[in-house]
Amino acid sequence: MPEETAQITPRPPAHVAIIMDGNGRWAAARRKPRKFGHHKGVEAVRRCVEAAGNLGIRYLTIYSFSTENWSRPEDEIKALFDLMRSFVEKDVNRLLANGVRVKVIGARANLTTDLIRLIEDVEKKTSGNDRLFLNIAFNYGGRDELTRVCRALAQKVKSGALDASDITEDVLAAELDTAGTPDPDIILRTSGEQRLSNFLPWQSAYAEFIVLDVLWPDFEQENLEEALNIYNCRERRQGGLSS
Ligand code: IPE
Ligand code: IPE
Ligand code: MG
Repeated sequence: MPEETAQITPRPPAHVAIIMDGNGRWAAARRKPRKFGHHKGVEAVRRCVEAAGNLGIRYLTIYSFSTENWSRPEDEIKALFDLMRSFVEKDVNRLLANGVRVKVIGARANLTTDLIRLIEDVEKKTSGNDRLFLNIAFNYGGRDELTRVCRALAQKVKSGALDASDITEDVLAAELDTAGTPDPDIILRTSGEQRLSNFLPWQSAYAEFIVLDVLWPDFEQENLEEALNIYNCRERRQGGLSS
């Protein structure tokens, strides 16, 4: 761990997953279009990635576009896609400098080939890094993910490569977009909303759910520190009894 790494806790959680919410309300409060809020939200993403590295978090998963966000107006969807395209294209050097390895999770089937190429590019270029693993959930929905897993397992059973009775929790988890990533310790949602909105339903089974009132574009390192402090006061019994 680099010397300048600040430690908020003796043992920070390995994996923090964030539902970045409140961009639209942030913009509305300033009488600006919603896409201005999304634009500012990307700046908050950059601060958050840096803060996570500073605080010794190894895995950070951020929810940037859900399978349900397709129901938003076309111009807002376009703005969100443009921001994703520009992030994966233009932030590579910053990510490399911060030791960040990027992986994009979610469905690829209905993304354009140019965006898929840019995603594959950033994944490849950052593949040598291991200070912070950044999963970007884009075009992601937990139900969609589990449906794709079912399809993949069914194909394996059909082809004879797998016996149905050999399907265990580990076999299923190995087919998830997050395969190889530990389950999130924290699901953090900004903007005060208290729901999961189809984010990592399998993986979050025993995550600590933390809601902050801050709107995503205002998110700073101190907000992440606050979440870690709340986490430290929780007792994770995982179905067992208090120790
Ligand atoms: C989160 O902000 C970003 C996305 C869902 C893409 P919102 O756009 O949901 O902002 P609010 O919830 O309307 O304030
Ligand atoms: C969840 O936020 C999706 C992302 C943050 C990308 P939403 O704003 O879309 O969720 P709902 O509609 O309030 O549940
Ligand atoms: Mg929202």
